[in-house]
Amino acid sequence: MKAVVFHGIGDIRLDDVPEPKIEQPTDAIVRLTASAICGTDLHMVRGTMPGMEAGTILGHEGVGIIEEVGSSAGDFKVGDRVVVPSTLCCGHCSYCARGYQSQCDNANPNGKQAGTAFFGGPKTTGPINGLQAEFARVPLADPSLVKLPEAMTDDQAILLSDIFPTGYFGADVAEIKPGDSVCVFGCGPVGLFAIVSARLLGAGRVFAVDTLPDRLAKARDLGAETIDFNTEHPVERLKTLTQGIGVLRAIDAVGVDAYRPESGPAYAESRALKSQFKEEQKETEPEGSGATWGGQWVPGDAPSQVLTWAVQALAKAGTLSIIGVYPQTMTRFPIGMAMMKNLTMQMGNCPHRKYVPRLIETVMEGKVDPLTVLTTIEPMDDAISAYKAFDKRTSGWVKVKLDPKL
Ligand SMILES: NC(=O)c1ccc[n+]([C@@H]2O[C@H](COP(=O)([O-])OP(=O)(O)OC[C@H]3O[C@@H](n4cnc5c(N)ncnc54)[C@H](O)[C@@H]3O)[C@@H](O)[C@H]2O)c1
Ligand SMILES: [Zn+2]
Ligand SMILES: [Zn+2]
Repeated sequence: MKAVVFHGIGDIRLDDVPEPKIEQPTDAIVRLTASAICGTDLHMVRGTMPGMEAGTILGHEGVGIIEEVGSSAGDFKVGDRVVVPSTLCCGHCSYCARGYQSQCDNANPNGKQAGTAFFGGPKTTGPINGLQAEFARVPLADPSLVKLPEAMTDDQAILLSDIFPTGYFGADVAEIKPGDSVCVFGCGPVGLFAIVSARLLGAGRVFAVDTLPDRLAKARDLGAETIDFNTEHPVERLKTLTQGIGVLRAIDAVGVDAYRPESGPAYAESRALKSQFKEEQKETEPEGSGATWGGQWVPGDAPSQVLTWAVQALAKAGTLSIIGVYPQTMTRFPIGMAMMKNLTMQMGNCPHRKYVPRLIETVMEGKVDPLTVLTTIEPMDDAISAYKAFDKRTSGWVKVKLDPKL
């Protein structure tokens, strides 16, 4: 079968690989009818999420049909149409029971302390072969998969595999109450769904920071007031917009590959931090080869930029929600300022299985049209060129679905 395979930093290929087989009685094999490319995949190809094993199939977003089930795969039957949540869970450990399915004690083959188990990630997350493939083995199929209503299309469902639940998780742990001011940093697909979710939770004014015109336009379509960090200082602007108070809730939907401003009033300050950012880059990208790949797969040049802006922009006693991914090697955070402001912080990998069923209902009830975020559908055969266009933030390529039927 065809699959997108990680060979090394900056080196991914569409390879012919053997089809997966049932390995455990709790497994299912899913024939994927849709998968997608995510900002998380970019961290791995750029080397800012280290520890990838050569040969791992990439991708953690998928929709498909169950092709085969193990002897204890629960209620699922061959032919069932499912969304595959990015993270795996057992459904019954103390973490799963309390809604922390992404910290399940039993899903990660590296043991209880290893953290989140997800498809197509570094060795520490499994590794479990991913979903940018014709077929995938889904461990712990019964507690992990979610059956789809017939009326939900693949285009809608693929957004529920990871990015809508993650955006919702970000808004949920930001503790948004009706009327609260919220700032979402990053208007990639995850940030856009954080905006949608903040509004679902009743936020008052929602602000959004990025610099890419097409993404800022999407954020405005979704009801956010936007700030371009290359023309305005996001912290100063947010303070002005909130009568000097700051925003009550901030969501970091950027993560380690943050860029620093190249112009505008925030440029000088950020330029002065260039050597600190360089140190952070060395820490977060230990395997980086320094190769430039012709301008492709370029890591962010300011890993702690968004964390710093968010802490500065928050009101006293506000809440910071971090859903942008940082690797274990990232240590820089403005802890003193956060402490002095009595901030609350919540973060982590989305417990997808907690949110997916209720978000399917939200979409079926017509409360949210997730298709606003899906901009591009490409044939699976063109996966590598699609990755390159998404990595380069080509205008209009906000969320990319890969379709094996095209
Ligand atoms: N926590 C989770 O469970 C989870 C799940 C999925 C994705 N993620 C993470 O969410 C993040 C976003 O994912 P995505 O698919 O939207 O990625 P993306 O790479 O498409 O989007 C990131 C956006 O951040 C913007 N950005 C860069 N520097 C910035 C800055 N200084 N200030 C404001 N914006 C800036 C970029 O222009 C881009 O639009 C990634 O880190 C991804 O790994 C986390
Ligand atoms: Zn994803
Ligand atoms: Zn569990």
